[in-house]
Amino acid sequence: MDHFELRNGVLHAEDVGLTAIAAAVGTPVYVYSRATLERHARVFAAGLAGVPDKHIAFAVKSNPNLAVLRLLAREGYGADVVSEGEMRRALAAGIPAADIVFSGVGKTKAELASALEEGIGQFNLESEEEGVELAVIAAAQDRQAVAALRVNPDVDAGTHSKISTGKADNKFGVAYDQAGAIYARLAALDGLTMRGLAVHIGSQITNLDPSRAAFIKMGALMRSIRSAGHLVSHMDLGGGLGVPYREGEELPGPAEYGAMVAEVTADWQATIMFEPGRVITGNAGVLLTEVIRVKPGANHPFVVVDAAMNDLVRPAMYDAWHDFAAVRPTGERITANIVGPICESSDTFAMARDIDAVQAGDLAIFRTAGAYGATMANTYNSRALVPEVMVDGAKWAVVAERIEPATILAAEHVPDWLESSTGSA
Ligand code: LLP
Repeated sequence: MDHFELRNGVLHAEDVGLTAIAAAVGTPVYVYSRATLERHARVFAAGLAGVPDKHIAFAVKSNPNLAVLRLLAREGYGADVVSEGEMRRALAAGIPAADIVFSGVGKTKAELASALEEGIGQFNLESEEEGVELAVIAAAQDRQAVAALRVNPDVDAGTHSKISTGKADNKFGVAYDQAGAIYARLAALDGLTMRGLAVHIGSQITNLDPSRAAFIKMGALMRSIRSAGHLVSHMDLGGGLGVPYREGEELPGPAEYGAMVAEVTADWQATIMFEPGRVITGNAGVLLTEVIRVKPGANHPFVVVDAAMNDLVRPAMYDAWHDFAAVRPTGERITANIVGPICESSDTFAMARDIDAVQAGDLAIFRTAGAYGATMANTYNSRALVPEVMVDGAKWAVVAERIEPATILAAEHVPDWLESSTGSA
């Protein structure tokens, strides 16, 4: 459930008409609903009621906006970060360092060192090499790094190949059959406290069976590492729970996921950790856009909108579906291709889609854009970096400003040796 609904014929975010936001901020613009974010955070936590000892770390990568992080901090969420930049955001939002998990396959030595200085709660190690580096840095700082070992369970999550992470040939984690030996070697190092295992098999997972299979494998590994005499007090099950992108789509939700986890982990006697991203933010945001014009096409008209693949890359990158809706629907429908202004064919949001009829100047939204939307935006074609707005009841605020092409241009420099009017050739 979200709070983007028609009221008196106009799509609203909570109590604010999207027309008002477009008029004040311009388009394209991401719009988030505070009530929806809060609801999702609570529903996810409530789904885990059967897991007595848990830690929920929001996957910052899905939506790192500072206001979003602040809201989740207020809900008691920790953070799962994958770079120093994300860590700084989580800290700035007031998430305690001890509640932050540092994941990622390529943490640099500098990142490991600053995360240690900040007192980050857990490092999820992706290789033995990384663990050895972390131990050296921690010993030099006279600190003890707390870590879990990420394991690749070789389970197919059944999602898009570009967001699948748990197959043996993916770059993530250490091989399942070597994990016990690696854990033992890392546990022996000064400066490192190995306390757990981590797994994350992919994102937008719409069937719980692969996750269940992966968690069962992790439970077996936990037992064997414990029986070798090592501490395994924390089990990080990652994120990945999918969300509906199409109206009417029925998927397992937090309650089903939580029940599955509670059943599989019932006798684990460990703190179970979670890293949800999309399930919290996905349906809490829309991308608001204006139709520039409608032009004829060979089979269907092209609806050219002012949002593009640089603002929302998911359709171009993962063939993702985002529902499209007019802000003032007339009740008429058309079949059309929806495209952005960027000069490549991949700048296509939908082909031959049955949509609300729209005309030049009309406003429309792409739904389910709160996760992996603004954060993956770029400025390709020298377009602006898309702004973000958060609505709270009848209030709203710009929570990330539009970064104009002129600001980006101002950060570029022509070296002296190119300034002369003629080249050397
Ligand atoms: N934990 C780890 C270690 C992850 O790699 C990810 C996502 C998450 C948690 C959060 O997963 P979620 O609950 O959001 O599914 N850009 C892609 C998604 C990439 C996901 C990367 N890792 C997309 O737009 O679909």
